[in-house]
Amino acid sequence: MYNNILVTGGCGFIGSNFIRTLFKNNNFKGNIINIDKLTYAANPLNLSDIEKNYKSRYFFEKSCICNFDNTDKIFKKYNIDCVVHFAAESHVDRSIESPLEFINTNITGTFSLLETARQNWKEKKDVLFHHISTDEVYGSLGETGFFYESTCYDPRSPYSASKASSDHLVRAYFHTYNLPVTITNCSNNYGPYQFPEKLIPFMILNMIKGKNLPVYGDGKNVRDWIYVDDHNEAVIKVIEKGIKGQTYNIGGETEMSNIDIVNLLCESVNDLIPASENKNMEKGKNYKDLIKFVKDRPGHDRRYAINCDKIKKDLSFNQSIPFEKGIKKTVEWYLNNTDWVDSILTGEYKNWIKKNYSDR
Ligand code: NAD
Ligand code: DAU
Repeated sequence: MYNNILVTGGCGFIGSNFIRTLFKNNNFKGNIINIDKLTYAANPLNLSDIEKNYKSRYFFEKSCICNFDNTDKIFKKYNIDCVVHFAAESHVDRSIESPLEFINTNITGTFSLLETARQNWKEKKDVLFHHISTDEVYGSLGETGFFYESTCYDPRSPYSASKASSDHLVRAYFHTYNLPVTITNCSNNYGPYQFPEKLIPFMILNMIKGKNLPVYGDGKNVRDWIYVDDHNEAVIKVIEKGIKGQTYNIGGETEMSNIDIVNLLCESVNDLIPASENKNMEKGKNYKDLIKFVKDRPGHDRRYAINCDKIKKDLSFNQSIPFEKGIKKTVEWYLNNTDWVDSILTGEYKNWIKKNYSDR
């Protein structure tokens, strides 16, 4: 295991859960340095327990990954020997509305980080640049078939095209400069601390507020869902035992259509807050009555399904949280963590960031 791990995007959904999981890992005795620009998707509250419990081993640097000089200083200051690169613009709908930031952060930002690693590590071998990527780089599947590590890239949204580009840069640095790298391409994550623009938290919170549940197109697009802790355990296995230069697919092996998920969420929320007791619900209505089929997302990929036999066989990875259990935990988390939810819905978290981080 490495001593000084630089996590980028650690205040976001998967990154903050990763930091929590890594500190709990018995093999890890080192420090975590988190670089985050604190975009709309970040919430330092995601790590308030970590700041308290790991004071001597957790360090936060507000910084943009595109800023080479800053990252270079941070590399030297903390003697970084491993990078786990989560930072990205991550929401497909936003990439359709406004792609520029996706190009800047996902492509230029990754390039800048790679360059910092190359210049600081030179010929060092006991270091690692681990890049977090997505199954969306492989494009869209029909009714059958799976994405393998060998599947040709065929990205179809500005988001997935920017992630594909960053994957290619990471591989180029391995082949050209011998930079020790690994890449993981993961399917759809869900769980605590996910920004409520993504399907699952968005639908849960809309139910609580008695608002419509907008399902794109016919609702039959399929995603492969994985609980965020399972994703992060898989990443830790790759960091510890993965072969340099290799790519590993990570997936939940749980294919679900969007409409089936929304129906399941309606039932799970109803178990905890029955619609009849929710003051925001019209009398006599069920949560399922809020479902509304709306205009489809442009270029909406039809189906994703990951084959993750390689990581299972080579690194003994297994998912531990079945979908129904994960959904129950997730619904409970959003219903119980009203302070976190309200800080986001009211925009209060942004004021908090301004107050506490404006000087950095
Ligand atoms: P997120 O949007 O919740 O968090 C992204 C974080 O990166 C935020 O904290 C943000 O402030 C930070 N960030 C953005 N631009 C930055 C910049 N220029 N400099 C420094 N920090 C910056 O994203 P997420 O869902 O946690 O995804 C994390 C990574 O995992 C991304 O690379 C994404 O492509 C990948 N991924 C996500 C999923 C998923 O289902 N969410 C699945 C597979 C892969
Ligand atoms: O597959 C991995 C990817 O999963 C990650 O790389 C991305 O960062 C992450 O955002 C996610 O992308 P998706 O586009 O699959 O996730 P999203 O939650 O936006 O949408 C999931 C599905 O639900 C998709 O088919 C679109 C649909 N959807 C989404 C929203 C927000 C709806 O029908 N209605 C909605 O309101």
